[in-house]
Amino acid sequence: MPTTVAADNGRAEQETVKKGNVKTSPKMGKKTLTLDTMNPHIKVMEYAVRGPIVIRAGELEMELKKGAKKPYKEIIRANIGDCHATGQVPITYIRNVLTLCINPKLLDSPDFAPDVKEHAKRILSSTRGGLGSYTDSTGLDVVRQDVADFIKRRDGIAADPDNIILTAGASEGIKALLKLINNEKNGQKPGVMVPIPQYPLYSATIAEYGMEQIGYYLDEDNNWALDINELKRSIREARKVCHPSVIVIINPGNPTGQVLTEENIRGIIKFAHEEGLYIMADEVYQDNVYAPGSKFHSFKKVMTQMGAPYDGLELASFYSTSKGFMGECGIRGAYMELVNMDSQVMAMLKKMLSAKLCPTSVGQACIGCVVSPPKQGDPSYESFMSEKQAVLKSLAEKAKLVTDTFNSIPGIHCNTVQGAMYAFPRLDLPQGLIDKAKSVGQDPDFYYALQLLENTGICIVPGSGFGQKPGTHHFRTTILPPPKQMEEMMVRFKKFHTELMEDKLKNV
Ligand SMILES: Cc1ncc(COP(=O)(O)O)c(C=O)c1O
Repeated sequence: MPTTVAADNGRAEQETVKKGNVKTSPKMGKKTLTLDTMNPHIKVMEYAVRGPIVIRAGELEMELKKGAKKPYKEIIRANIGDCHATGQVPITYIRNVLTLCINPKLLDSPDFAPDVKEHAKRILSSTRGGLGSYTDSTGLDVVRQDVADFIKRRDGIAADPDNIILTAGASEGIKALLKLINNEKNGQKPGVMVPIPQYPLYSATIAEYGMEQIGYYLDEDNNWALDINELKRSIREARKVCHPSVIVIINPGNPTGQVLTEENIRGIIKFAHEEGLYIMADEVYQDNVYAPGSKFHSFKKVMTQMGAPYDGLELASFYSTSKGFMGECGIRGAYMELVNMDSQVMAMLKKMLSAKLCPTSVGQACIGCVVSPPKQGDPSYESFMSEKQAVLKSLAEKAKLVTDTFNSIPGIHCNTVQGAMYAFPRLDLPQGLIDKAKSVGQDPDFYYALQLLENTGICIVPGSGFGQKPGTHHFRTTILPPPKQMEEMMVRFKKFHTELMEDKLKNV
């Protein structure tokens, strides 16, 4: 299909006609919706994780398939936290429960364990007509109750199922909440505090909704910790242009892989209280903690333990089936817990969500399995635990491999990957390369990532897609490729970087 993206719709049409693939008709004259008339916020939003480097990786993959000769035989996709796409296997218990939910005829089959059947029956009992029917907009009752029980087991603090909303991936909940918060005050836009570097869902959504992004820099020299003085600096400056409304914390961090200490979280909560901010705690990586001594602490737990007045703060916490040990990204299961939300605002949020009917029912069943796994003594317990631990152990090994290898390459500095699924190393790039990149209109880290891809087949994301301190250059890699491929990737990476630094690479 010819592309017809052009600012001038007349020209776009002519181009379509010139390419000869599409018949014209009088009706195809002037377009009503053009780049000039469309929503301008969409034009400025960017999402680097699926940006131009990734598109080029897809093209190279096609070229390889057609027999093109390259210095490598396959593309290594380390650009996106899509676990199953890089070979992680599904957890059998989860898939079996989902299978029975989708095909209840199999409930009589001897091939499924009794606890699997019980779980599927429980989920189905709260649907109106199986998974093919719409659910309530906030999700199935049984699953929301299971989420509440999961939170209570995790934090030792009660959770109310009425404060839990199931969503199609955490992204949906995050976007819904930002939409709810989006309101001008005294002619000023609402400001959203986000870490820099950040996961680009936030910058993209802030741009889409016409809100103001308030970046606070994470402290790279202190393993990407969150410095309260930096929060104060960023909010002070932001007050000149917007009214700060919400602070986003990603813990464990994407792309930075750090796990916040309890003390650090307490400091953030005090800051949010002083500044009257709504807290959005993105805790989708809570299962992914690897470094010895690191531990996940939920914002809800810390805030509640701090007592008054902090336990009255408004908080939203997000968890998802996409990450952790299950990595079920495509199934789109997640929940958000809304703590201390004003009851009238909650009603408005539920009204807003009702207009899109409900999150995917399979996603709801999936988060139901994640929050209510087999218990000790259940028939599926041992196999569930061994599969879960195998995934987390492999991720922990790769987190260490990546940190150690990058730190062994002169000119690359990598903080310890304490958690999540990523490393965000810093590059010391020679001035010659920076100048060359600028001469072709590219950010130096984009240029580096593109050269890496062309020369080695490794697909990573340039740091500029996540934000970084001016004058620094980074990239994000996932730790997801299978161990053998990860080792191979590290060998190719080291060779590329060393040759680049020694100016031995042709065409770079
Ligand atoms: C920090 C963070 N939050 C949210 C999401 C969105 O996850 P989901 O697939 O549940 O929408 C991601 C996905 O990579 C993420 O890294």
